[in-house]
Amino acid sequence: MPLQHASPAPGLSRRDALKTAGGLGASAAVFAATRAVHGQTPSNDVIKVGLIGAGGRGTGALQQTLSVPGSNVKLTAIADAFEDRINGALKAVEGMKDKVECPPERRFQGLDGYKQVLDHCDLVILATPPGFRPYHFEAAIKAGKHVFMEKPVCVDSFGARLCLEAAKLADEKKLKVVVGLQRRYDNKYRETVARIREGLAGDIIGGQVYWNGDGIWYRGRQPNTTEMQFQVHNWYHFNWLCGDHICEQHVHNIDVANWILDRLPETAYGVGGRQNRVPNQPSEIYDHHAVNFTYPGGMRIASQCKQFPGGDGRVNEEFQGTKAYVRIGEITDYSGKVLWKFSGPNPNAYQVEHDELHDAIRNDKPLNNAYYGTTSSFSAVLGRLATYSGKQWDFKKAMELDYRLMPVDPTWDTVPPVTPDADGNYPPPMPSRFKIVSVAKPAVS
Ligand SMILES: NC(=O)c1ccc[n+]([C@@H]2O[C@H](COP(=O)([O-])OP(=O)(O)OC[C@H]3O[C@@H](n4cnc5c(N)ncnc54)[C@H](O)[C@@H]3O)[C@@H](O)[C@H]2O)c1
Repeated sequence: MPLQHASPAPGLSRRDALKTAGGLGASAAVFAATRAVHGQTPSNDVIKVGLIGAGGRGTGALQQTLSVPGSNVKLTAIADAFEDRINGALKAVEGMKDKVECPPERRFQGLDGYKQVLDHCDLVILATPPGFRPYHFEAAIKAGKHVFMEKPVCVDSFGARLCLEAAKLADEKKLKVVVGLQRRYDNKYRETVARIREGLAGDIIGGQVYWNGDGIWYRGRQPNTTEMQFQVHNWYHFNWLCGDHICEQHVHNIDVANWILDRLPETAYGVGGRQNRVPNQPSEIYDHHAVNFTYPGGMRIASQCKQFPGGDGRVNEEFQGTKAYVRIGEITDYSGKVLWKFSGPNPNAYQVEHDELHDAIRNDKPLNNAYYGTTSSFSAVLGRLATYSGKQWDFKKAMELDYRLMPVDPTWDTVPPVTPDADGNYPPPMPSRFKIVSVAKPAVS
């Protein structure tokens, strides 16, 4: 039975549809209810897609989900903090008209539009700044939606715990979750991990992971906007929204380390700072971090990330085994002899994420990336705790901290967790004044 049959009229929510399902006869009602619980969408039914966060990546993910070969799919609702982003995303899918049914009444602007989107979809794309992600993910799973969510999935301990709980609930409801750590969907990485698991490199004893790049964008202050509007628009420069770039960007490489070592870090210890951010572009976050992670069994990972021009850029991961040296796509012994080299095919991992998600939804295959998505995001948060505080942090203890950066139910008039000083600057975090803060409680050292 097509999914639309569960909704007696276009625009009715799934909840309304289930209420009304009694009128369709007992078997139809049972079928609709079973599907809602198990989160499966039979092969020909339309998958209704909602987009929350219609910026660069959200738009890209939308195009990819609408392009899954053979999948009957439609964009039905969209939310963004700002109207121009909604319009931009809709323009980007103009050429896919038969896959877009998103009239003005299902376009929601503002910080809480995500709630309405969840009333109009089966699968939701979460692509706002990551500070919001745990709250959106929890709401999506509670509402019974399949999820594609971008990395990182949390920026603090409270958010990490929320994500892990929502991950469990997703399993109970048989909902499918993909996290946009696309290296996990890239054949070059998958094949490298497979060779390691087969023992080609011996036991992995350590490695180095890098995201050393240039600067990032800056979105200046617009006239007549609140501080909250400025910060949400310019989100990459605020820790409570982006988690600093060790979390926002370098999470990809830290995730590869956790994946290859097949365990989570026990501790993090490191240094970081800010020396090159552009002076007339006030920003809260650091521009470099260097962290040593220790893993159970004595393995060590050295992690580096920087965001300023100049010097040698490097974005990669390397590992040392007892028998061989691993670069992604190539394993050599210590005399330099190539033991294995990747030779394709390697389809676009951003597309594979959605192809595999739709396959899991339609065929009820287990798929839930939220566990590793959360623990890898939190590994990056652990690294940031180390660089901001100058102290060594323990993963388990850090996970239990009363540490929440996101205000409760923020509006455009909420005072953000950080505000500018008299000169318009945001003081960088410093070990000498670092505090664990929770929006609900006073700061503690
Ligand atoms: N996997 C990847 O390779 C990759 C690449 C780029 C970005 N990303 C991730 O995607 C996410 C978004 O990044 P982006 O580059 O698209 O940024 P972006 O600024 O282009 O888009 C974010 C959008 O979210 C909107 N937004 C902010 N708060 C919102 C809220 N509460 N509700 C609804 N909308 C809200 C913003 O207005 C903006 O349009 C980030 O988590 C980023 O790390 C992943």
